[in-house]
Amino acid sequence: MRILFVCLGNICRSPMAEGVFRAEAVRRGLEVEIDSAGTSDWHVGEPPDPRAREAAAGIGVDISGLRGRQVTRWDMEAHDLILAMDRDNLEHLKRLAGPEHADKVRLFLDFASHRVEDEVPDPYYGGAEGFAHVLDLLRDAARGLADHVEGRLRRS
Ligand code: 4NP
Repeated sequence: MRILFVCLGNICRSPMAEGVFRAEAVRRGLEVEIDSAGTSDWHVGEPPDPRAREAAAGIGVDISGLRGRQVTRWDMEAHDLILAMDRDNLEHLKRLAGPEHADKVRLFLDFASHRVEDEVPDPYYGGAEGFAHVLDLLRDAARGLADHVEGRLRRS
């Protein structure tokens, strides 16, 4: 299975989601390929934001080697699940996917157990506490997604 996480810049939320979910997948021995991308081209080639790197490092997840890239039409073909951080990302991805691949595109927090929020808020213009909150949301959704993937892999 191939899973893609998508946000706006690919330097805060989606690289954190990629790192957190990869750690969960490794812990459970899931055979998945994981990547992330942004809907914009604003931070192509850049490493994750220092605040995102620091928040992830705080739970033992190293995302410093990741680099920003922009999502492409090919990503819609190449991935089985394409997970948006917020509704703006979701709308962008649905347009890119077209009817053929629309069923692969979902909000990442659809997999969360705490359903108070259904979007991962953009932490870029805030402080460290925003990144800590994003990390909490991502860790919860990563566990739910891992349960989902386990079920799908067992059935395949
Ligand atoms: P991300 O956060 O979408 O979680 O990577 C952002 C990063 C950069 C900008 C906005 C959001 N920006 O305006 O440059």
